[in-house]
Amino acid sequence: MADGASPLWGGRLAGGLDPRVLVFSESLSVDARLLAHDVRASIAHVRMLGRQGIIPPGDADAIIGALGDVVLDAGATDEDVHSLIERQLVARLGEVGKRVHAGRSRNDQVATAFRLWCRDACDDVAAAITGLETTLVARARADGDALLPGYTHVQRAQPITLGHHLAAHCWALERDVTRVAAARVAADISPLGAGALAGSSLPLDPISVAAELGFAATFVNSVDAVADRDFAIDLSYAATLSMVHLSRMAEELVLWTSQEFGFAELPDSVAQGSSMMPQKKNPQIAEHVRGRSAVSIGRLTALLGVVKGLPLAYNSDMQEDKEIVFALVDTVVGCSTILAIAYSGLRFDTDRMSAAAGDGLVVATDVAEALVRAGMPFREAHEQVARRIAAGERFLSPTAAEAVAARVGAGSPARFREQLAALDERILSRR
Ligand code: ARG
Repeated sequence: MADGASPLWGGRLAGGLDPRVLVFSESLSVDARLLAHDVRASIAHVRMLGRQGIIPPGDADAIIGALGDVVLDAGATDEDVHSLIERQLVARLGEVGKRVHAGRSRNDQVATAFRLWCRDACDDVAAAITGLETTLVARARADGDALLPGYTHVQRAQPITLGHHLAAHCWALERDVTRVAAARVAADISPLGAGALAGSSLPLDPISVAAELGFAATFVNSVDAVADRDFAIDLSYAATLSMVHLSRMAEELVLWTSQEFGFAELPDSVAQGSSMMPQKKNPQIAEHVRGRSAVSIGRLTALLGVVKGLPLAYNSDMQEDKEIVFALVDTVVGCSTILAIAYSGLRFDTDRMSAAAGDGLVVATDVAEALVRAGMPFREAHEQVARRIAAGERFLSPTAAEAVAARVGAGSPARFREQLAALDERILSRR
């Protein structure tokens, strides 16, 4: 191996490892991303080893110092990031470096680093989603009074305001943030001290290590601690469902920016052209979001599949977990960010929207409800209005604006300002 790296388990197996096996099995190319988190957890572990008298305090100090200098060296061919860290400690400190792994296995080590990473990722995902919401709320506030038809079955249904429509996306994103927060709680338990699966005969102090790492709690069952990937699945599900929401928004952007709808136009800075057709202005970023949402669903399914057949406790299948979760998190952060950019520059054609809302048909339900208020049974009113439409009538009254203004009750388009205030409050509480 380059850098003289040899596997941590070299003592057990005779002769060298076939280099093709290392290439096949390595995870450093993926889990290098855990370096800072693993170093942090290793520092807490070593500090505890020193405190507990498991290693001499001077050695603990030396290892902690050297951990601060660990870097991802170019061309490293270690089996994984954990092996890289230990190799560098031994290269720097000799025998002293070899004390780092007392009472620890890569099984509890990787679970700890990955939980720390997921905790940070939850914060990043929540921030990215909140950023998109902030943009949507700003657009809803600025352009929110414009009228447009709300749709069911992609057929004009009833008039609403643009603000009410944009805010609807925010409520889905609010639920995403709630799910991400729950995933953070799931990740916030320290497995360090569980060892390979059975803990250790050394007098470890997992509770103090957990506290130093800012975990809310310490594992209760050492076998579960190293076998559990629910926290990763929770985050993956939260990220994937968020991608589903972003995909619905993306699909709407594709529809609204089409010539057929003409409700919105992307700023030139985020639209892409055709190599052949000079007139084209394509909503490709929205299509990428829609496509990546599909891939995200596949990744979530893949992770569930990785875990489902595993006997307790750790199995190497679980090494696949990080690539999946890293990609899901990168995707949802990237897509939220790009949609925020798209929405902040989006030009709404409010004339086209209100013309569509003013077609004299979108208010049909409101005409029927006026008859109900005058005492007619609803089914009769429905039939009468339907007959008049079939006969060619188009309704001038109520107008779309009058129809929206007549809506009553919390959550109605007419109570839009209250809704904005509720969203503002939630968003600001996370700042
Ligand atoms: N690279 C491994 C992973 O990501 C670390 C744990 C390895 N443990 C083991 N016993 N081989 O899961």
